Parts: sequence; structure tokens; C-alpha cells
Amino acid sequence: MPNRRPGRRLAPSLLSADFADLASAIRAAEAGGAGAFHLDVMDGHFVPNISFGPALVQAVRRRTQLPLDVHLMISDPARYAPAFRAAGGDTLVFHLEATRDPTATIDAVRATGAAVGAAIRPDTPYSALEPLVPYLDQVLVMSVHPGFSGQKFLPEALPKLRAARRQLDEIGSPADVSIDGGVTVETASEAAAAGATFFVCGNSTFVGGEVGANLRRLRDAVEEGAARAVR
Ligand code: DX5
Ligand code: ZN
Repeated sequence: MPNRRPGRRLAPSLLSADFADLASAIRAAEAGGAGAFHLDVMDGHFVPNISFGPALVQAVRRRTQLPLDVHLMISDPARYAPAFRAAGGDTLVFHLEATRDPTATIDAVRATGAAVGAAIRPDTPYSALEPLVPYLDQVLVMSVHPGFSGQKFLPEALPKLRAARRQLDEIGSPADVSIDGGVTVETASEAAAAGATFFVCGNSTFVGGEVGANLRRLRDAVEEGAARAVR
């Protein structure tokens, strides 16, 4: 895929959708203007919950042309990267805390042909990620503790977003700054003002209300936040 900068995107997390009717969730989110889908892979080891593996990613791949953003909340991400790429993942996001050799993990993901993202948990400082940022297509800042949807946004994420934005601008990188966890109309706006470009929205897309209207409100909040961003 060419390295284009598609602007700010909303990425509904299918973890919050009805697993028995993902096709409808995908259709509704596409119609509502989603820019990608976020797929939360959990192994019951790196995080205390288990979600799904490559088979579900592949099933989603068959239903949409939108980019698939695969968030690997798993131990030993390099080992599983080829399977998630083969299943149709466009970007594979690994956790810095899940690997001893992040440079080798970046190389392993890149070797699959996928775009590479790295994520940090709320308890990991931005400085731990900083040396790797020039080699990434996406920096994912977690604003909840990974493992479950529907948690409250932790504002400690905001200075990390600003640091990522500053660093990427300085080095002229087109990488996305992704915010994940507790993104609502209010927090999406704050995150956009802090420099996020990729907004993972689980419950705020699929739980309560209508998907199209939910995404419209989130989109408005993102644009409003971006407009007051200090650059
Ligand atoms: C949390 C996941 C998130 C989560 C987002 O472990 O990484 O992507 O599903 O869900 P909400 O938006 O409901 O916090
Ligand atoms: Zn996620």
C-alpha cells in the first residue's frame, strides 16, 4: 500500500460489536464514515482477557475493504505476526511491554509486509518508545489498561500524545498517532487537540445509540478538537 497520509480517521473497535453479527456492524460503521477497523487481539497472558485470533481477522477481511488495524495484546508478537498478516491485517500493532527486543519485533512485522505500530500501556512512559518512533507507521497511546472495552479514559495519555505529535513533526514522519481506550465525544476532542490522528472507538461506536449518529458525533468532536490544537 502506498504511504499516504489519509488525515484523521475513526477506527471502530469490533470488540464492542455483536460477534454474532459482525457483518451488520461492519456495514453500519462503513456507512457512518469509519476510516479503518480496529481488531483487539488478546491472549489471556499479556492481558487477563481472551478475545480472538487470525480466523476472525480473516472473516472481517472478507467483509470490508477498509484498512484493518490489528492491536496485538499478546506475548511474543513477532511469532504471530505472519498469521495476522496472512489473515488480512494491514497494520500490526505490538506492545512495547510484550517484547525484549523491539527492534527485532519491528523488523519481523515489517518483513510480513504489514505497516508497523507500537503501543504503550498507561504505566509506560513515552520516553521508552521514543527511540523507536522513527521506524514506526503508528504510535499507539493507550488511555485505558489493556484488556477490556468500556473503561474510562485516563488523562495521563494526553501528554504522551503531545510528545508523539512533537517528535513526529520534528522528524517529518507521516506516522499516525493513535489513541485507544475510553474515547468518547469529550475525550476524542481532547485527544485531537493533543495531536492524535487515529481514534479507536469501541463502546462509543457500538453501545447505545445508532452507529451512524455515534460516528457523526465523534467525527465532529475530532474536527473541533483538531481546530483548537496548538501547533
Ligand atoms: C482495550 C482495547 C481497546 C478497547 C476500546 O484493551 O485495546 O481497543 O476495545 O474500547 P472502548 O473504546 O470502549 O474503550
Ligand atoms: Zn485496542
